[in-house]
Order: sequence, then structure tokens, then C-alpha cells
Amino acid sequence: MTDDVNPSAANLEFAAGNGLVHRRLFLQGSALLGATGLGLLTARTASTAPPPEVPEWMRAPGAPMSPYGGRSRFEEDVQRIVGPPARGTTGAGSSRTPLERITGMITPNGLHFERHHSGIPDIDPNRHQLLIHGLVDRPLMFSMDALHRYPMVSRIQFLECSGNSRINMNPEPADRSCGGLHGLVSCSEWTGIPLGVLLEEAGVSSDARWLLAEGSDAAAMTRSVPLAKAMDDAMLALYQNGEALRPGQGYPVRLFLPGWEGNISVKWLRRLKLTRAPTMTKDETSKYTDPRPDGVAEMFTFPMGVKSLITSPAGGLTMQGPGLYEISGIAWSGSGRIRRVEVSADGGASWADAALTEPVLSKALTRFRVPWQWDGGPAVLLSRAIDENGAVQPLRNEIIAAKGLHFYYHNNAVQSWQVASNNEVKNVFV
Ligand code: CO
Repeated sequence: MTDDVNPSAANLEFAAGNGLVHRRLFLQGSALLGATGLGLLTARTASTAPPPEVPEWMRAPGAPMSPYGGRSRFEEDVQRIVGPPARGTTGAGSSRTPLERITGMITPNGLHFERHHSGIPDIDPNRHQLLIHGLVDRPLMFSMDALHRYPMVSRIQFLECSGNSRINMNPEPADRSCGGLHGLVSCSEWTGIPLGVLLEEAGVSSDARWLLAEGSDAAAMTRSVPLAKAMDDAMLALYQNGEALRPGQGYPVRLFLPGWEGNISVKWLRRLKLTRAPTMTKDETSKYTDPRPDGVAEMFTFPMGVKSLITSPAGGLTMQGPGLYEISGIAWSGSGRIRRVEVSADGGASWADAALTEPVLSKALTRFRVPWQWDGGPAVLLSRAIDENGAVQPLRNEIIAAKGLHFYYHNNAVQSWQVASNNEVKNVFV
């Protein structure tokens, strides 16, 4: 490969150290790619390629139509990373999205991460009901048929477990893939009913400030939700990426609270009780609280921080020798839109702006991309996101200085990937 590097590499417009090329090279419709960069991506020209053959799949009709589509058999190794069941039960634990094997901003339904506390219930929608009660004028009970008659909205938004990326607070960097480290984040188009519509129908009492949300799983997962969030952008989600929620995502109805830690978007929702104060359930006192170095535990830390990850090149992938690469990744913020993503190829010594792929939506994954001319030498790749409020993703050392080493939730530290001359890409701390 090295010998094939096109002499036009000399014409590349570098934007930062160690080979980061200006993002405009890969912008759609850019004449620069044809004039300057394309030769760097082409392994061989047609004149030296072998003549076309007629493969066996052209010699007979292919498979018939099918009632529900599946993947190519050559893609079946793209799978969630399923963790071991926790504490001797079968249903408690998580599975992670293989972030380094997918692209764009939408997570396929079959690869959306899971985090369950007592398995996935097998709910009959004809028997499932949702109760709204407590501090309301009129307690209401909804069948699923009744819920489906309400006007709906659709939004593309991410969901991230607040325990995502915790493993990078270990003293040594774990040798895991990108998804294995950070795969408790996914992004979907969610469709459902604005929760405020149903709360107004029930008539919320003036002294109500919180809701208790209860799931219909064997853990009876319960969390306390501030009323202000419920009336702002909360949704009762019924559909994900155009089809009914999968059982693992809360079928037939889940609470969805955009930008907030995933656990509070209670799946298999069966009850919302309006209360004056938080209920202090087992799920928010034994978990999802944040001990500080001074011994105080912070509760109800809901929004997920501004964060980004390079998903290619990344752990779980292998380089193919020196040459021009597209660095690609995802960025998101629980507080709004992504304004900017910077990328470094020299361990943070210098940074270049990445191109953000449209659409850039509030509380959604945003895909970013930047070209990189890898010379085959050691490199450390980092990305750093800034959201529309000006919040900057912290370095690992900065977050440790603020929160200590023993916090569990809300790790939004910058991820570093070490690219080695032997083509390996590994998790590293800088
Ligand atoms: Co939290």
C-alpha cells in the first residue's frame, strides 16, 4: 500500500498535526476530492483490475420476497455485545450497540442497547393498561387501543444509560471495542403521545411536583420524574423507527424523556402517579445516585453530558496500512444540539474541526467526519464535542479531578484511540 500512495498527497490541505486534513475535502460535492483526494482512496485502476466475471448469483433467479426482511448473511456477525447476567439472575444486565460496525445517526432496532433489571416481560397489548392517578382531578385508565387513538409526534433522539463508559474510570484502559466500552448509547426515531396531553386530560393538582413512573417488568422498575420534564418534552413512545417498540425497548409503551439518563425512560409503562415529592424508590436510592469525593451523594442527576466518540478508526477495527482515511464518529448532548466537534490525531496537541453531517438535531446523535492522511506511524485519535450551550466535553483527567475515580454514572470524558504501526487500534488514556 505504501508504494501506491498518490503523489497528490502533497497537495492535501492539512488542518492539524499528524495528518489531519481540512474537513472540506470530504464535504458532499467537493471538487477537491476528485482533484486531490480520490486517488488516495483508490487501491487500483480499472486497467490493472482482472476482467469482470459473471458470478453464480447472476446465473439463476434470486430469493423470493419475504414477509419480514433480514440482513445479508455476510453481515450477521454485526451483533450486540451481550454482557453476563448480573448477580445470578438471567434478566439483569445489559447488551451494547456495536458502534464501530454501524454508521449514520440511527441505530437499527435489532442493535439498540438494552439494560434490564429483571428480564423482558412478554406483554399482551390487549391486556396491558396504563393508569394515571395520584394528585389529579380524574384518575384515568388507558387501554392500548385508547392510547393509539391520540395524535402522535415523532422525534429523532438518543438514549444513553447513565452507566455508559464507566469502565474507562478503571485505573488501566480496558482492551475493548468501541461498542464494548461505550455501546450503552443508541438513537432512534421515537413516535408517541406527548405526555403533557394525557396529564392535562387527567387534570394535574396544583400541589403536584413529581410523578412516579412504574414499569410492568418483574423488577417493577420505578423512578421519580419531575413534573416540569413531564410537561416539557416527555413522550409515551409506542413506535421506534416506524415499527412497534420491540419487547426489549418497552413494548407496548414506554416513557421517553429526551436527553436524560436512560433508566428514567421507564419501559413497559403501567402507572404514573402524581406526587408532591420524589418517591425515593429502590431504583433511585440504591442505584443512579452519584457519590462525590466529599461523601455526599447527589440524586436526580438527569441530563446526559455533552459527549463524542470516534467510531472509526476505533477499538474493534483494524487499519489497512498507511493512506487516506475518513475519521467518523458520533456526538450528542442531553441539553440540546451539537455545535462543534474537534478531532486530534496527535494525542490532543493540535485539533481540527470535523464536518457535522446534517441533520444536526437536539438531543440526537450527530455524525461527524474528518479526513486523515495516516503515515503509518503511531497516532492517538481524540474527539471533543461542544454543545449549543457552550458546554465542552471534558478530558478524562479533568473529570477525575472534579469527581474522583470512584464515581459510576455520567462519564462523558474524551475517548482516546491509539493507532499503532501494526494496524491495531486500542483504548488508551492520555
Ligand atoms: Co444520574
